[in-house]
Amino acid sequence: MSVIENSKLTVVGAGSVGASTAYAALIRGSARHVALYDINAAKVEAEVLDLAHGTQFTGSSDIVGSDDVSVVEGSQVVVITAGAKQNPGQSRIELAGVNAGIMRKMMPQLLEVAPDAIYVVVTNPCDVLTVLAQEATGLPTERLFASGTVLDTSRLRWKLAERAGVSRSSVHAYIVGEHGDTEFPLWSKATIGTVPILDWETPRGDRMTVDELDQIADDVRNAAYKVIQGKGATNYAIGLSSARIVEAILNDEHAVMPVSPVLHDFHGVDGVALSVPSIVSASGARPIRGTTFAPNELDLFHRSADALRDVAASLR
Ligand code: 2OP
Repeated sequence: MSVIENSKLTVVGAGSVGASTAYAALIRGSARHVALYDINAAKVEAEVLDLAHGTQFTGSSDIVGSDDVSVVEGSQVVVITAGAKQNPGQSRIELAGVNAGIMRKMMPQLLEVAPDAIYVVVTNPCDVLTVLAQEATGLPTERLFASGTVLDTSRLRWKLAERAGVSRSSVHAYIVGEHGDTEFPLWSKATIGTVPILDWETPRGDRMTVDELDQIADDVRNAAYKVIQGKGATNYAIGLSSARIVEAILNDEHAVMPVSPVLHDFHGVDGVALSVPSIVSASGARPIRGTTFAPNELDLFHRSADALRDVAASLR
């Protein structure tokens, strides 16, 4: 991919997710200039040095960083990863209180130096934090949204591609709703190529069953818990997912991605950020209003919304 000249991405937070996002952006050439901002000076300096030392082997992107928020200046995209991360067995929702406080403090400082940027919230619970940040800043809902289930959808496509014996890019399936325990797949719209998922004949000569698909959905919903249990955090896949979202913005791709903007009057959901297939472009994220749900999926969508609405209300 050719790097957009003078494009600038800032990643806020030099923890494992932020550093992995910067690393993915350098390798993929997501932006010409990548900045890492963290209040921990020693940490951000070390991460930037370690990343810069490898740039002979990456593309034309460069990396800078600082504990001074002025490093964010001129960013077209700001990816927010700062905050507490899940401990083994801890849900994303349990991080809401502490991370809402960090977001409330940080957003005004970021907007002062990057008032025109598109903000992508990765910090968890990313959907709830998006609602609170959007309310606090008054930014248009297009310009501040969560990475949402882009990562979960990638997990789903990986699992399905393996079972179906096809390329991951030929699996057209989405996880929607909360980036969390109430997320669910839009099976009613899932196809392999143009073939509905349950009609696909695998290389074994069989077809996937509803039970199998339910198990795959469960594995995806619990994927982060499994990785966190084993290595203490997830970082590579969320870093790559975030870099991909950045590219869709900086390249003005108008790509369909399941990111999570605050929804208004969307299938009966209002004032909650949830992942739905959205158009991601230089102006941010716009939910696709033509998205339809099967009756059971609409129930799940409303259940996701209710869960997150209650959490956001408890933090106001
Ligand atoms: C993930 O799903 C922890 O939200 C992060 O990997």
